[in-house]
Amino acid sequence: MNDKEVERQVETILGKLSLEEKIGQLNQVGGADFAPGPKAEDQIRKGGAGSVLWLNDTQRFNELQKIAVEESPSGIPLLFALDVIHGYRTIFPVPLAMASSWDPAVPEKSQTVAAKEARAAGLHWTFGPMIDIARDARWGRIVEGAGEDPYLGSAMAAAQVRGFQGRDPSDPERVLACAKHFAGYGASEGGRDYDPVYLPETQLRNTILPPFEAALKAGAATFMSAYMDLNDVPASGNRFLLRQVLRQEWGFEGFVVSDAFAVANMVIQGHARNRRDAALRGIKAGVNVDMSSYTYVENVAGLVADGLLTEAEIDELVRPILAIKVKMGLFEHPYTDETLLAQVVSRPEHRQASRWAAQRSMVLLRNEGGLLPLKKDLKKVAVIGPLADSMEATEGSWMVFGHTPAAVTVLAGLRAKLPAAQVTYAHGPEIRRDIPSWFETSMAGMERKPAQSPADAEAAFQAAIETARAADLVVMVLGETAEMAGEAASRASLDLPGRQEELLKAVAALGKPVVLVLLNGRPLSINWAAEHIPAILEAWEPGTEGGSAVADILFGDAVPGGKLPVCFPHKGSHAPLYYARNLTHSPEGSPMYNPRYWDGLPEPLYPFGYGLSYTTFEFSNLKLSSPQVKVGHSLTVSVDVTNTGSLAGDEVAQLYIHQQWGSDTRPMRELKGFERLTLQPGETKTVNFKLGPDELRYWSTNAGQWIQEAAEFDIWVGSDSQAALHTNFEVVA
Ligand code: GLC
Repeated sequence: MNDKEVERQVETILGKLSLEEKIGQLNQVGGADFAPGPKAEDQIRKGGAGSVLWLNDTQRFNELQKIAVEESPSGIPLLFALDVIHGYRTIFPVPLAMASSWDPAVPEKSQTVAAKEARAAGLHWTFGPMIDIARDARWGRIVEGAGEDPYLGSAMAAAQVRGFQGRDPSDPERVLACAKHFAGYGASEGGRDYDPVYLPETQLRNTILPPFEAALKAGAATFMSAYMDLNDVPASGNRFLLRQVLRQEWGFEGFVVSDAFAVANMVIQGHARNRRDAALRGIKAGVNVDMSSYTYVENVAGLVADGLLTEAEIDELVRPILAIKVKMGLFEHPYTDETLLAQVVSRPEHRQASRWAAQRSMVLLRNEGGLLPLKKDLKKVAVIGPLADSMEATEGSWMVFGHTPAAVTVLAGLRAKLPAAQVTYAHGPEIRRDIPSWFETSMAGMERKPAQSPADAEAAFQAAIETARAADLVVMVLGETAEMAGEAASRASLDLPGRQEELLKAVAALGKPVVLVLLNGRPLSINWAAEHIPAILEAWEPGTEGGSAVADILFGDAVPGGKLPVCFPHKGSHAPLYYARNLTHSPEGSPMYNPRYWDGLPEPLYPFGYGLSYTTFEFSNLKLSSPQVKVGHSLTVSVDVTNTGSLAGDEVAQLYIHQQWGSDTRPMRELKGFERLTLQPGETKTVNFKLGPDELRYWSTNAGQWIQEAAEFDIWVGSDSQAALHTNFEVVA
């Protein structure tokens, strides 16, 4: 159906709607029992709802859809939405892990499968991708994004949108994407979730917004406005973001949904005087859909009657919602075949895809003495740690409502890999948040179990030591539980929670080979392990096949090729910490000014872009198509990458630039190109990168606009953000 036909159909539908029904399309109701407000079906029956969230039940979807289509005044079908962040039934690595693959095919393939399963269940819309740049590892939601860098983040955002949406909105195996949280949420002060964000326009334009623009260019049908204040204006009432940037500058034609209760929360934030004022500000700012706060259905008709809003302003917000429902074919096919889900989720290729994605997302942080890959003739292996047999930790944060974890745990994966070996297991002392997460307490019927007693913890500690003592090799599985990262899961420290490090030290003291596998949703300050544990694999929260993929990597059936999308600080108090910093005041040759902290330099434990392999690589022959290029023109950078080891493996060639001077100061390094390569032993491949206006322009504080200027530039190419292979070029007017 072409745009003209869609437009005609939308106008026909709109022309028949009462003002109340138009406002209903702007109302998103909670479908779950815990959701506050009037019952969903009562709202739907009177045409007071356009979409439903927090419901995950195909039969229930059809029941509510039937009320909307057959009982409401105009029969407009509902959109059903849910947070399908990294998988619906088959769970994929968390987005931070997907970004660690530095391979856009990983998020695209993962979200394609997630979309097939979610749509088969009757969902039309996912609240993803989350694309908030995060440079403070204390922020719990860093797990949901692509890390610290806008260039990598843009590639991952676009790939996720392609995966969720495909190219054709009527495709019955896709779901609408939602670029969130627009914008700046990842810069909450102190990494404290929901706290205010203060960003100058230069950082917004150069760092925070590019991944959102990439998502839009990839076709993202919807955006979600964030919770927090951006420069003292809540994002859900922020005309600069939603009107000027998103619509006027970027030409966005989809629709914006607020975050949950965010419209009403503008009262709590001291921005809106009351719920009526909040509704007015949301509409004026361009928030099409009020997620679950009911302020629109309560107040908008009155605001129109009082002349504070016009029906035309409401029509403008309703049109894109109707257009998407028309394009998706919901008027013709509003219901879901309830037999479909079982067929779709049982496809073997889904778990194969999850295992593949997990293999490509893992990052080898250390491999002293070539301990890895392990030999399959091992006889006695001890698997130790509170996460070693945890399905929840393996699948990670942001599970969809009602999901029952079914992951292959690391313990199960190792036992499957070594059927003839004795693979023993000890949990060790429990770990838990100091303050429980909402998910541990408020979900229906979930009482938080009491903390383990110190005596029981000590007994578990000693049992783990004895288990280790009896083995030839120990695999420690440590990190964070699924609730320790994600929403409302910020923490002040990045240390291993509980007695995990103490247990690691005690096991290491036995003198046996120890492999550390990390399951976690954020960078951790594993300073002691980084010095004393020979092999460390960052597995993140790897999904349903996570344990299989860990075993594949540890035994060499897959070669690790992932790279960190975010640096690992030595201390949580060093955050925010990131590579693309300005040098700023650092007088030449004056070390006394240099240490920013006198109790230790804030250099990362592991830098952005870092990751090892089972083989080695060499970068050489760095060449430019020209040493000079005019403003507005492009040059090509080429480099040879050689596998200098004895095993096939993947390397990620990374290109960084530095503009040496200009209207504004520019970061010491900025990622402007990457490519993941598979190389056979001895093989060399030449990688080419293009550097042109898109890569060299920036938003200038001085100029108050995008500029590309004549200047000298450094280029580095290599395997991480500390790459040494260097050349430079000049941009001339
Ligand atoms: C949550 C999150 C948002 C999510 C929404 C719906 O509070 O901030 O990411 O999509 O509510 O669950």
